[in-house]
Amino acid sequence: MSRRRHLLSLRQSAPAVLPSLLLCDFANLEREVRQLERAGVQALHLDVMDGRFVPNLTYGMPIVEALRGVTDLPLDVHLMIDEPASYIKQFHRAGADIITIHVETTQEPVTLLQQIRDLDCGAGIALNPGTPLERIESCLGHCDLALVMSVDAGFGGQSFQPVALEKLQSLRQMVGDEVLLEVDGGVNKETVRDCFDAGAQLLVVGSAIFQQPDYAAAVQNLTNSASLT
Ligand code: DX5
Ligand code: ZN
Repeated sequence: MSRRRHLLSLRQSAPAVLPSLLLCDFANLEREVRQLERAGVQALHLDVMDGRFVPNLTYGMPIVEALRGVTDLPLDVHLMIDEPASYIKQFHRAGADIITIHVETTQEPVTLLQQIRDLDCGAGIALNPGTPLERIESCLGHCDLALVMSVDAGFGGQSFQPVALEKLQSLRQMVGDEVLLEVDGGVNKETVRDCFDAGAQLLVVGSAIFQQPDYAAAVQNLTNSASLT
């Protein structure tokens, strides 16, 4: 599927709860994917960490490629790595559909976003809670997605930082419908609705899915909580 079709289908699924495969059972990855597919998720969020930009190491291209081999779900790859320029093509080749880079990791985010788009991948720009919104302003005309971190990138299971809500609201004003807004970190049944109300269409969730016995029920409850009127 092309970049545009993936982005359109995600836009139409909002509020879309996207599982972050950080706390899943890696010894049974295919089984986990099947459960998430049955739960009706619209994409898989993959957290790539390098032990340099963030003080944690997760996984890289081989896991993305392995997942690509077992699912047609869009793969939303969140790169928490220094020097992302060196790896964009490799993650594309491994099967990423959306590639998000952190603005803190590069002097030339617009060039990298353009490279990602040239590969027909969705291009995302992420920023940590302590990074001011101004840092990504120049990127907004060149990206498909803005990822507002609601915890410091690096670990699952942290508490939601409300500064993300202000950023989402401001971003929504700035970009209209042009750019998908995604929020990541500490999203659970208490915080999900504020995120959606603030403008987030894609809601990344780790612990609040993977620490539950029934993923389908967790995803459904979170989706319902997001859009409660
Ligand atoms: C944090 C990651 C997140 C995180 C989400 O650096 O990008 O995707 O794993 O996990 P929870 O929902 O547990 O905060
Ligand atoms: Zn993430």
